[in-house]
Amino acid sequence: MPTESLSGFLEHARAQVDSAIERYLPSPPASPALVCEAMRYCVFAGGKRLRPVLTLAAADAVAQRQRAPAEASVALALPAACAIEMIHTYSLIHDDLPAMDDDVLRRGRATLHVVYGEGIAILAGDGLHAEAFGLLAREPASDDPAVAARKLQVLRAVAEAAGAAGMVGGQAIDLQAAGQAPGHPVTLNAESLRAMHARKTGALIRAAAVSGAIMAGADRALVEAVDRYAADVGLAFQIVDDILDVEGDPASLGKTAGKDAAGAKPTYPAFFGLARSRQLADECSERAHQVLAGAGLTDGWLPAIADWIVRRRN
Ligand code: IPE
Ligand code: IPE
Ligand code: MG
Ligand code: MG
Ligand code: MG
Repeated sequence: MPTESLSGFLEHARAQVDSAIERYLPSPPASPALVCEAMRYCVFAGGKRLRPVLTLAAADAVAQRQRAPAEASVALALPAACAIEMIHTYSLIHDDLPAMDDDVLRRGRATLHVVYGEGIAILAGDGLHAEAFGLLAREPASDDPAVAARKLQVLRAVAEAAGAAGMVGGQAIDLQAAGQAPGHPVTLNAESLRAMHARKTGALIRAAAVSGAIMAGADRALVEAVDRYAADVGLAFQIVDDILDVEGDPASLGKTAGKDAAGAKPTYPAFFGLARSRQLADECSERAHQVLAGAGLTDGWLPAIADWIVRRRN
């Protein structure tokens, strides 16, 4: 992995992820052309690839910590990185649907349902979700029982993060709190707002980092340290997402700004104001750094990723 700058690492990791996802996505004639095209439309629209980058960076950091060959560990983690990006993209496609956030712009393009219709958008999301688990089960193909055991552990972590205790559960609370679940409104306080963010965004970000650590053969204590680091990075990430919805501009965000206030969404700026929200994101980042220092995981890109997440403008 490049060692000069975070941007060099990001560029390298994104290129690896993009070419692997291209290979892993279904294509005709085995699968009908339209749904394959719709999946690619959103996957290759230029997301930041934070989650797969975290998977690869965690594998690299664990390998360095254990004085193991980093290239081999990163290669073992690459399929999980891609699968998690596919699940994340599915969550965005569904999040943008008229029944949810009703957004028309995503990753700098018209949203999938605007271009292909709601039915195909729902199916492209469903397809990405299922294909991701197929990929986790298949790759990396290996006869080594240790690799098979790691794959199973990753499958379980990703399923839990994507499911009702994680992303889906958090999205459901988001809809309830925004008055979009008829007959089931909820009002959030500071603690339940944090918990909602931890589910809807934090869970998959944690699973991304943890999967990289597991595939690199981290022991239980290292996996746990990576998990705690990623929990804080994940919360910081969604707080900054909420802030950027208030003060970001659509050209650099690649998505509509101002939607959260318009939809009465439960966000950090709505609850705490902008200045306090920024402070809380910084505190998350500081905690993430402390965890890395305590676990001897400061070699590699995990510290710089925590800084990037709070300073980003897109
Ligand atoms: C947006 O995620 C949705 C959230 C969970 C906040 P990203 O900001 O990572 O979106 P992309 O992948 O870069 O498009
Ligand atoms: C979405 O949160 C989180 C997901 C699980 C997709 P948001 O609704 O704030 O994400 P954006 O701002 O539309 O990207
Ligand atoms: Mg949403
Ligand atoms: Mg949204
Ligand atoms: Mg948002």
